[in-house]
Amino acid sequence: MNRLQDKIAIVTGAGRVGNIGVAICDAYLREGAKAVVGTDLRTDEAAQIISEIEAKHGEGRFRLLAHDTTKEEDWRKVIDTTISEFGGIDILVNNAGISVHGGVESTPLHEMSKVMAVNHDALFLGMKLCIPALSESAHRFPGGGSIINTLSMASYMPSANNLSYQVSKAAGRMLTLCAAVELGPKRIRVNSVHPGLTVTPLLREAFQEYADQGLWESYEAAEDAVAAMGPLGIKSYPEDTAHAFVYLASDESRFVTGASLYHDGGIGQRF
Ligand SMILES: NC(=O)c1ccc[n+]([C@@H]2O[C@H](COP(=O)([O-])OP(=O)(O)OC[C@H]3O[C@@H](n4cnc5c(N)ncnc54)[C@H](O)[C@@H]3O)[C@@H](O)[C@H]2O)c1
Repeated sequence: MNRLQDKIAIVTGAGRVGNIGVAICDAYLREGAKAVVGTDLRTDEAAQIISEIEAKHGEGRFRLLAHDTTKEEDWRKVIDTTISEFGGIDILVNNAGISVHGGVESTPLHEMSKVMAVNHDALFLGMKLCIPALSESAHRFPGGGSIINTLSMASYMPSANNLSYQVSKAAGRMLTLCAAVELGPKRIRVNSVHPGLTVTPLLREAFQEYADQGLWESYEAAEDAVAAMGPLGIKSYPEDTAHAFVYLASDESRFVTGASLYHDGGIGQRF
């Protein structure tokens, strides 16, 4: 409790019930954050998310804003709203992401560009525009400002059928490392979390596609098969993954920057 006491966070990709972004918002509020501003392109599930979060944490500390992370003007609105309503930004979680199947032959250029825009360019934009506010955080907290980019095992594992996703997440890793080196003197830490198999709507959709192609009999069978490949042999749920984001946002990690936290059940060590 209270590991994020009085901190103010922006978390992208928090507009879908049961996803990692919502779990991060929930965990940050549980740990005493002063305010959490969740954002997402989609707004159709906003009412349910807001009411579930307010039922747990009360009113006034959570906002859910419409935001296309690939658009600079949307970022400016989110940042201005966060600062004017709550007084600053201490934590930026670049978590929104998309996944499109296909390899070099089958992926059209426009799809490659779209995945790069959401999974890579938007992280760059968010980091860039939040620097002035995040650099003020060191005046309030020993851990200073914290940027956490949600990447993936895809950052370090090639795939024949997921080219745009793997490339965008690998590029996100180098983006994180370069920013960590550059922004350290401003007392902004930049780290990444690499989830493995995490049971969310995105994963279910991806695995349903495999099931539809006849590769597995159902998405549950696909989940079980992939989980069994890891040394631990278990799946992660968004609430598990959110713990990694709490640590990197908290002052407990004040000496940690440029770290890649693999939250993957060890499956990456198999490849
Ligand atoms: N679930 C997994 O197994 C898994 C594994 C590795 C990495 N990840 C990563 O974790 C992150 C969260 O994934 P999730 O499983 O919760 O998926 P999800 O689809 O539930 O969440 C991603 C959210 O990002 C939003 N989004 C997409 N494009 C956007 C844009 N341009 N602007 C704003 N929001 C946008 C979507 O609307 C969605 O709500 C993603 O970056 C994903 O790549 C997930």
